[in-house]
Amino acid sequence: MIFNLGSVNIDYVYAVPHLPQPGETLAAASMSVGLGGKGANMSVAIARAGGPVRHIGAVGPDGVWAKARLAGYGIDVDHVATVDVATGHAIINVDAQGENAIVIFPGANHEQSDRAIAAGLADAGAGDFLIFQNETNGREFAMTQALERGLQVIYVPAPYDEDPVKPLLPKADILVLNEVEFGQMIQATGRDVATLGIPTIVVTRGAQGAVLLEESSGWSERVFSAPKVAAIDTTGAGDTFAGYLAAGLEVGLSAEQSVERAVTAAALKVTRRGTAEAIPSLDEVQTFLGQEPTKGAS
Ligand code: RIB
Ligand code: NA
Repeated sequence: MIFNLGSVNIDYVYAVPHLPQPGETLAAASMSVGLGGKGANMSVAIARAGGPVRHIGAVGPDGVWAKARLAGYGIDVDHVATVDVATGHAIINVDAQGENAIVIFPGANHEQSDRAIAAGLADAGAGDFLIFQNETNGREFAMTQALERGLQVIYVPAPYDEDPVKPLLPKADILVLNEVEFGQMIQATGRDVATLGIPTIVVTRGAQGAVLLEESSGWSERVFSAPKVAAIDTTGAGDTFAGYLAAGLEVGLSAEQSVERAVTAAALKVTRRGTAEAIPSLDEVQTFLGQEPTKGAS
C-alpha cells in the first residue's frame, strides 16, 4: 500500500496565448475547473497505474466533490478530513506551448494534524511506502512515523523551497525532482549527490525524459529518453511521473522498469489538457510501450 500525505486543490486552468507579464491583463481562450494538487494528482496516478493508495489530507466544505472524485478512482479517502477552512486551490495559466505558471493557495492543505496523520498511518508497515510533496504541513511528522514503521519514503520536494526541504532530504529513501530543483538542491546543500545519503534519486527532465541515480557500491546513472509528443499542457506531468514511479516500486518492479513506465505516463499526460483527470491509465501506458496490458488493470 502507498500512503500519500497529499494536497488536494481545486484547479482553475486558463488557456492563455502567453504567460501574463507584470501589469498585463490577458483574456483566456478557455477555462476549466478540475481536481488537482500535487498530492491528489499523485494519488490519481497511483490508482490509474493500478496501485493501492490511501490519501491522507484535508479539504474544506467546498471540496467535498474533490474527495468524492478521488474515491471514484478507487483511492482510500477515509483519512481525507473535511475541515472548516477553504479547500486549497490553484490558478494555472497554460500557454500555447503547454508551459504553465501556477499560484497556489494552501487553505485546508495546511490543516493536517499530527493526530490525523498518525491515524492515517496506523496500519502501515514494512513493504508499504509513504509518498509526499511540499504542499501540505505535517511532512516531517509523517516521515518520522513512516520510518519508525519501516516504510520506504519517497519524497517529491515540489514546489521546491530550500529551508523546509533540507532537514527532510537525508531521511528519504527515494527522491524525485526535476532538474531545476535538483540543481537548486545541490547548490543549497553544497554537497555532491554521493554525500546526500539518499540511495535512489530520480531527476525528471521534461521532454528529455529522466535520469536514475542509484547508489550500490558506487553510483550508477541511467538515462531514459521520453517519447516525442505534442505538448498541450505540462501541468501535473511531474506528479504523474512520481505516482507511476511509486506504483511500479510498490508492486516490485525494478527502479528501471518503474522509471520507464513513469516517463511514458508523464509524456501521455502532456498531450491532454487538465490535471488529475488527464492522467493516463496503465493500459494506455502499456499499449504505448507495446507491452501486453496487465490483467485486471483498468
Ligand atoms: O503539479 C501540478 C499541480 O500543482 C496542480 O494540480 C496545482 O494544483 C498545483 O498544486
Ligand atoms: Na507538475
